[in-house]
Amino acid sequence: MENSKPIGVFDSGIGGLSVLKQFIRFLPFEKYIYLGDTARVPYGNRSEDTVKRYAKECSEFLVKQGVKMIVVACNTASSVALETVRGSVDIPVIGMINPAASSAIRASINKKIGVIGTRATINSGAYSNSIKELAKDEKIEVFPQACPLFVPIVEEGWVMHPAARMIAEEYLKPLKEAQIDTLVLGCTHYPLLSPLLTELMPRVTLIDSGEHAAVHALRLLAEDKKLVEEKDEFVVKPNIKFFVTDIPSTFFEVAQRFLGFPVDAPQRVSAQWTI
Ligand code: DGL
Repeated sequence: MENSKPIGVFDSGIGGLSVLKQFIRFLPFEKYIYLGDTARVPYGNRSEDTVKRYAKECSEFLVKQGVKMIVVACNTASSVALETVRGSVDIPVIGMINPAASSAIRASINKKIGVIGTRATINSGAYSNSIKELAKDEKIEVFPQACPLFVPIVEEGWVMHPAARMIAEEYLKPLKEAQIDTLVLGCTHYPLLSPLLTELMPRVTLIDSGEHAAVHALRLLAEDKKLVEEKDEFVVKPNIKFFVTDIPSTFFEVAQRFLGFPVDAPQRVSAQWTI
């Protein structure tokens, strides 16, 4: 049965669990297969060609697992490789960019929107292009800012550390000067910095790309009548199968931080993607 097939989610590493968390929130009855390309993380400083190749390999792996939909949880891969992924599989593919872009347009009153992400995401211009395209004739200004140091800070668990505050103040300076009223968190890791970002920019609406992608996926699955049959009970343990290309020593600690609950042991897949 098509409806009972799992949803495939992939990311450059463990950060995509922040996206998976949102999917579980909106689609708790679905089964999930999560692939973290932990042997090749980070994607954020790599060239477009390399990210495209990695993203294609990750999606082909998920298709082999029999998923009904692919979620490109990695914002870097969504920015530069979404069309590559869509061209290499024949199931629906959900990216992070458009759902967050349309939500930011709706949320912004003064039409000044900030976007933060990895270098590759910001350099691709994917968010700026999407916001301008979706806004059509509406006059909107977009202020992109690469924040490469945020990823290691979050993985270290330093989300409220004075060092994080200092770095965030520096990155946010041009966005504050531009008087943005809405900020797109264009990276898997940034939702964990929300408390700090809210403290530094109290009147700015934060847009969590994973949250809006999950809502978009819910709508798409409902339209296509591909939602799993819901059971008349609470889900106490989400159905997730984890695959990684490497098991870092900090895997369980970091994964729990991103997902909000302990994870089962992941299965390691070899570089040749044969299991
Ligand atoms: N997952 C990446 C993203 O959302 C961040 C980590 C990386 O650079 O691979 O852009």
